[in-house]
Amino acid sequence: MALLETENLVKQFGGVTATDDVSFSIHEDERVSLIGPNGAGKSTLINLITRRLDPTSGDIRFQGESIVKLTPHEVVQRGVSKSFQSASIFPTLSVMDNARIAALGAEHGSFRFNFLKRLDSHAEVDDVARQTLTDVGLWSQRDQPAEDLPYGDKRRLEIGIALAAEPDLLLMDEPTAGMSPEETKATVDLIEEVKRERGLTFLLVEHDMEIVFEVSDRIIVLNRGEVIATGTPDEVRENEAVQDAYLGGVDE
Ligand SMILES: Nc1ncnc2c1ncn2[C@@H]1O[C@H](COP(=O)(O)OP(=O)(O)OP(=O)(O)O)[C@@H](O)[C@H]1O
Ligand SMILES: [Mg+2]
Repeated sequence: MALLETENLVKQFGGVTATDDVSFSIHEDERVSLIGPNGAGKSTLINLITRRLDPTSGDIRFQGESIVKLTPHEVVQRGVSKSFQSASIFPTLSVMDNARIAALGAEHGSFRFNFLKRLDSHAEVDDVARQTLTDVGLWSQRDQPAEDLPYGDKRRLEIGIALAAEPDLLLMDEPTAGMSPEETKATVDLIEEVKRERGLTFLLVEHDMEIVFEVSDRIIVLNRGEVIATGTPDEVRENEAVQDAYLGGVDE
């Protein structure tokens, strides 16, 4: 069974069809990237999955159950986390306290935590927070206010906050946007490491093709709201429709 599945998903904004009959699935432990030119509908698709947007028609199933009637919070409870750009960080709190809050949020937010892995003491919250900061390479900066972190470290803290909830599916929309090449490299290394150490299923939106080819098992290509190709990095690289969409005079 697919972990995530969209079926004939349509999202219209007035006259604009941002998502046009999109059907795809992601299996457990699969790393999938979503690529496509500007305006292709990538962020819209992510926002439909997190329930920030209502679909015009079609269905989204997670672990076999439709999630299109759930609230955004309920979707997180089911095990879908998104690494939010800055929105999830409390700037004046320390890095450690940010990680603690993420761990606590996971406790209260998640059925799995409540039944299988209760975080019912401070020590356990601290354990998860410490593990998270170690994973994202921020343990030595734990006492700094989050706002004092360099940009790339802040973005990694956001990924850490998303990971602290131990999501079954992690969604990332351009996690390296605005980073320096060094920060980008550190972030890609982080994703690779988490993937290796704990296993990770993700759907990544990313413009940098080098990153996409490095971290993805499979790539889904969107153009003007439609899936025009899906395949391994090699298959997508060779695909003519993809080359046309990127090179063939797409209006931007
Ligand atoms: N809230 C909205 N209201 C109206 N139109 C929207 C809204 N959000 C997105 N759109 C339109 O839907 C289409 C898809 O936009 P979307 O942001 O999903 O593209 P994208 O693939 O994420 O692009 P980018 O690579 O630039 O981030 C675009 O034509 C966009 O203008
Ligand atoms: Mg976008």
